[in-house]
Amino acid sequence: MLSKTRISDQDMSQVFQQALKQKGLIENADTAAIFIDLDFLSERIQHLKSVFPPGTLHTVAVKANPLAAVLKKINHWGAGLEAASLPELYLAEKAGVPADRIVFDSPVKTIDDIGYALKLGVHINADSLAELTRISELKNSMPSRSTIGIRINPQVGLGNIAMTSVAGRHAKFGVPITGSREDLIQAFLKHEWLDGVHLHIGSQGCSADLMLKGVETVLDFIREVNSRLANAPGGRTINILDIGGGLPVSYHRCQHALAMDAYSSLLFTRFPELRSFDLITEFGRYVHANSAWAASRVEYVKTDSHVKTAMIHLGADMFLRKCYRPDEWHHELTVVDPAGSIKTGQDDLPYVIAGPLCFAGDVLATGAILPPIMQNDYLLIHDVGAYTFSMWSRYNSRQLPKMIGYAGGGKHIEILKTRETVDQVRDFWS
Ligand SMILES: Cc1ncc(COP(=O)(O)O)c(C=O)c1O
Repeated sequence: MLSKTRISDQDMSQVFQQALKQKGLIENADTAAIFIDLDFLSERIQHLKSVFPPGTLHTVAVKANPLAAVLKKINHWGAGLEAASLPELYLAEKAGVPADRIVFDSPVKTIDDIGYALKLGVHINADSLAELTRISELKNSMPSRSTIGIRINPQVGLGNIAMTSVAGRHAKFGVPITGSREDLIQAFLKHEWLDGVHLHIGSQGCSADLMLKGVETVLDFIREVNSRLANAPGGRTINILDIGGGLPVSYHRCQHALAMDAYSSLLFTRFPELRSFDLITEFGRYVHANSAWAASRVEYVKTDSHVKTAMIHLGADMFLRKCYRPDEWHHELTVVDPAGSIKTGQDDLPYVIAGPLCFAGDVLATGAILPPIMQNDYLLIHDVGAYTFSMWSRYNSRQLPKMIGYAGGGKHIEILKTRETVDQVRDFWS
């Protein structure tokens, strides 16, 4: 059982008050900061481990939160990492994660990328049959401890967020199961080192039913391949099954997402044979999303006859998904005063919460009913741990904020990453 599934307004406010009191931590230049609850993160990983069979390899998706200090902690807590690009692979390696706990999943692997991964000896999931051919050629030319799988698109349909659903009839990822079934089987018959299958059907917005349907489709395929392999010389079977990530989380105070123990219980009750595989998972959002919150100073409040606009220091630079697809994404908000205490009550006018960027869509919320907001108050933005600062946009060249980790409800506070300097921004563009 998890001790908490979300961080409460009260906990955020308490930690923020402590941070404000700690000399030199929140400086005037820190117009915004990100806070990560390290206890929450480690508990998520321990929980994940406890509800899957003991040998399961849990690789946390680097793309959700690539902070080097956090990746090191994830390694320390005994999980692995899933890397979707060469730099993510490098981040995983430099975080000290052993090669046998890294999965390399980039959807566009160059020959050099594949060579690097083979040399490291990480598990590689080929994204296409053409990529498998490249892997085969490279494998023949160098020794490697890498195990190899292939990503299958089970084509079970889209979840309710099209942008992050990848198991439709056509998707840019993986090999489609219906049109390419026989080609896939032939690949397994041909390459005696190919013994893994990978699927990932989407991120947020996919129901447990859809996720289970994906697993069912792939298991059915594996059964067929294994029976064909049984008649081939060598008697091998597909023994690695990577079920990807994708378990949705809740971004709403009053909604609960399906718990990981409930999901795993559905998986293993419905498909007991899963226990016979070397299982891999790649959860990102489940581990990170609810572990972090952001604090932004309110720089100005503009008042019009029917609405107030609070101008803050985080917008579409950090919240790309929310600002570009506002109906699909949500973050709860809490208003605190300059000392970090929660403000209560309701303003007469609704609020627009606007970011600092130069375009009209740079808006985090419209029609928000909130307590009266004053200049120098702070807005706490909930559930920012996954796919927010990892998608940081360079538009308007704003500085990536300070990242602060805490444990023991704020008794321990550490800077995970300092605020980006203007020189670092200049270096980026130089
Ligand atoms: C291949 C793959 N694995 C894992 C993930 C992580 O998904 P989530 O963060 O929803 O668990 C993603 C995210 O898009 C992905 O593309």
